[in-house]
Amino acid sequence: MNYYDCFNELCEALEGPGAFLVVEDGKGRVNAMTIGWAQLGVVWSEPALTVLVRPSRHTHELLETAKGFTVCVPRRGEMKKELAFCGSKSGREYDKVRACGLALKDGAAPGLKYIDGCELVYHCALGGAAGLKREQVAPAALAKYYPGSETPHTVYFGKILKAEHLK
Ligand SMILES: Cc1cc2nc3c(=O)[nH]c(=O)nc-3n(C[C@H](O)[C@H](O)[C@H](O)COP(=O)(O)O)c2cc1C
Repeated sequence: MNYYDCFNELCEALEGPGAFLVVEDGKGRVNAMTIGWAQLGVVWSEPALTVLVRPSRHTHELLETAKGFTVCVPRRGEMKKELAFCGSKSGREYDKVRACGLALKDGAAPGLKYIDGCELVYHCALGGAAGLKREQVAPAALAKYYPGSETPHTVYFGKILKAEHLK
């Protein structure tokens, strides 16, 4: 499929129960974190999926050295418990893939894994990252999402290697 073919489904998931952001740690261990913030479009003239990850997440640590990531979107109404678990527990304390009984498959490049049974999968190579500084965020968003002195999200740019709609 074209990378933008299932834009509606992707946005519905992001606004609703979320999607999985899946990252390998370089030693074969894989972590899945639920995301609700992402952007599909074009960056550096290539199809891109950017994700926003707070510095406090285990996933943030993994993305500092990872080659890439996948974003896996379950079918509407499916994997709700798994999304809730991966969105509330940290990979620092749990092997979430195992705890949720998720099956992994090899992605489109070495170091990429995706969750079997998801409907939509975006395979991405990490193209760059930018840590937002507090002074770069609009005051309303700063007050709402980063109270106190919390550091805002890091934006990770994923170059889409392959986008697939699976049966
Ligand atoms: C629906 C939903 C959407 C979320 N979206 C994001 C997101 O876009 N970015 C982020 O940093 N955390 C997001 N979170 C929070 C993380 O999923 C959560 O803190 C998770 O436990 C982090 O896992 P990790 O420490 O293994 O990386 C979301 C949680 C839920 C339930």
